[in-house]
Amino acid sequence: MRAVIFGASGLLGRSVMRAFDDMTVTGTGFSRAVPGLVRADATAADDIERLLGRARPDIVVNCVGERRPQMWAGSPDQARDRNVDAARLIAQGARRFGSRLLHISSDYVFDGKAAPYRPDSDPNPLNSYGRWKLLAEQAVRAACPDAAILRLPVLYGPALFAAETNLTEIARQVSVRARIELDDVCVRYPTHTDEAAEVCRRLAGALVRGQRLGSVAHWSAEQGVTKYQMAVLIARRFGLPAEHIRAGEADAVSGDRPVDCRLDCQDLSEALGTVRRLFVTEFPPVVEPWLLPAGPISI
Ligand SMILES: NC(=O)c1ccc[n+]([C@@H]2O[C@H](COP(=O)([O-])OP(=O)(O)OC[C@H]3O[C@@H](n4cnc5c(N)ncnc54)[C@H](OP(=O)(O)O)[C@@H]3O)[C@@H](O)[C@H]2O)c1
Repeated sequence: MRAVIFGASGLLGRSVMRAFDDMTVTGTGFSRAVPGLVRADATAADDIERLLGRARPDIVVNCVGERRPQMWAGSPDQARDRNVDAARLIAQGARRFGSRLLHISSDYVFDGKAAPYRPDSDPNPLNSYGRWKLLAEQAVRAACPDAAILRLPVLYGPALFAAETNLTEIARQVSVRARIELDDVCVRYPTHTDEAAEVCRRLAGALVRGQRLGSVAHWSAEQGVTKYQMAVLIARRFGLPAEHIRAGEADAVSGDRPVDCRLDCQDLSEALGTVRRLFVTEFPPVVEPWLLPAGPISI
């Protein structure tokens, strides 16, 4: 099977590359087109066409996106392009070259007021990122009607820098011991990138085999935790003090962060089988390198 992974330099894309390593796979980067990846601007139709024309993949996975809140506020046009235009152009490319498409979306398309959400639940995003992810889904469906859209919750996994994931950022905050308040109202379902990538692999295989799975699918870990609870779990697991961390409600009262977007994953679980990784057992090796004052010694 031939695969092209757009956004292979990112948090999820790196895990997807590993999960697809038994295929003929081409991964793309943009600002981080490290050796082994091809540089492609997913907001430029020419770049996408050139790459897909050359690789002729059976499956395209779109892991391109802009999920950093500072970018939504500071460079909203660029963030929108990376979430919406890139999705539309990649979908048009996949359609043109006859590839199946797996597009990654987010639980932020929901308002968090009526969990659990099924794939056919009504979206109602609360912030720009959620609105862009929803616009991207609509653009993907219009350009490539047989695409699969996979919505995921917050991810954690091997990080290249502490701020790359919420969890590693919180681990850093636990370890530096500066006074901080973390939200203890909004529930998140941190999902390991390798679990999400394995779901992508199975979903990609099903798509290429022509299995019918519905156009929108959900995947999520089962354990719900607030940011404050993540900090307490990290402190307990590594015997660190947690008195400098206070429980707050900043995310919940901001009005633009959903309180609970638990995704109902029953359909995909039944179709793809079990790939679960438990948060409590999987988080320690991910956060441990970030508890050292100087950060990880090697990645
Ligand atoms: N991380 C999460 O918690 C989470 C949760 C739910 C859904 N998602 C979704 O999952 C997808 C992947 O997220 P992620 O966390 O892996 O994001 P990420 O770590 O920020 O990676 C984003 C990827 O997009 C690439 N990219 C950015 N602008 C580009 C452009 N103009 N052309 C081509 N590539 C470009 C980046 O390449 P360079 O870095 O090389 O520039 C990088 O490979 C996104 O759709 C995101 O919305 C993420």
